[in-house]
Amino acid sequence: MINRVAILTGGGDAPGLNGVIRGVARAAENIYHAQVFGFMDGFKGLIENKYMVLDRANTSGILHRGGTILGTSNRDNPFRYPMGRDEEGRIIFGDVSDQAINNLNRLGIQALIVIGGDGSLHIAKQLSEKGVNVVGVPKTIDNDLDATDQTFGFDTAINTVMEALDRLHTTAESHHRIMVVEVMGRYAGWIALHSGIAGGADVILIPEIPYDISEIAKKIRQRSRMGKHFSLVTVAEGAVEKEGEMVVAAHIEESTDPVRLGGVGQVVADKLHKFMGLESRTTVLGHLQRGGSPTAMDRILTTRLGVKAMEVATKGPWNHMVSLQGSEIVVVPIDKAIDSLKRVNPDSEIVRAAKAVGICMGDRYDE
Ligand code: F6P
Repeated sequence: MINRVAILTGGGDAPGLNGVIRGVARAAENIYHAQVFGFMDGFKGLIENKYMVLDRANTSGILHRGGTILGTSNRDNPFRYPMGRDEEGRIIFGDVSDQAINNLNRLGIQALIVIGGDGSLHIAKQLSEKGVNVVGVPKTIDNDLDATDQTFGFDTAINTVMEALDRLHTTAESHHRIMVVEVMGRYAGWIALHSGIAGGADVILIPEIPYDISEIAKKIRQRSRMGKHFSLVTVAEGAVEKEGEMVVAAHIEESTDPVRLGGVGQVVADKLHKFMGLESRTTVLGHLQRGGSPTAMDRILTTRLGVKAMEVATKGPWNHMVSLQGSEIVVVPIDKAIDSLKRVNPDSEIVRAAKAVGICMGDRYDE
């Protein structure tokens, strides 16, 4: 019988992590009479054996709070753990996965729930190959995980961006400016596409559709002819110009995904200014998109995912991820979630709908 389960939150945080933790802890207490250990700061806590025992009291009052009461990290991979530096200052990595597994065994933990995006779920899969019973929970504001209709955190992030677009709208109109808003999303354009549609953006640029400045200019000129002397441009951080490359802000060697994108918003604003002679300003929303209270949708989704994850932790099938499909929470093999990134299909209905209401997606724009 499984009555000792552990949980950790890995990778970049996302609104709703606490909802999953609460769902797991409550289901453990109310239904499965199991003890839940929460490892601190993602896989770092598992490696260093730092944990807290979760109960009703310490998981109370957290549903509406952003962040994670357990802390997280996107740098502490047990299979590639930073051990120090060599003489030239380069980081030396080592495999400390046995140490992590020993910690689980010493505590008598029979299943490990990993809340994470593709980086953390890759690690979860590697642990499962070494015999750990793993359950995955799909998290990321980017919504780029396959095998689930939506990841939690995404809904809150797009609402945050939508609110920012609403605010920028009025100041753009007063000053007759182009407002470029850079949003997160890594190699996928989900945040830009959804928030751009919701926030009434005139132009949405995503990595999946390389952009052409002259096409964007057509849209902005068309608006001017209609008496609208301002425009809102939503740019995903991974957006690329035709024949161009993604704009990289930094490389973080010890991170599970070392590339940090950033800076494309200013690039687009400068190009538009040069091309059209219009005043352009850039807003980079950055980590604001990861903070704050989860939306109702994310609170409900995380509660359901947490309860289901606890069920799977006790009964199996292990090495699966809980997932939203349609209106149901189901289980899918972790492999399916991490096989490939879920990216926007340029021919999909939602992209066609965006174009149908006059949004320029950076490719051919018919005036
Ligand atoms: O994956 C979530 C995410 O917020 C991405 O959208 C973004 O590119 C990245 O993480 C930022 O990471 P960090 O918190 O390390 O700056």
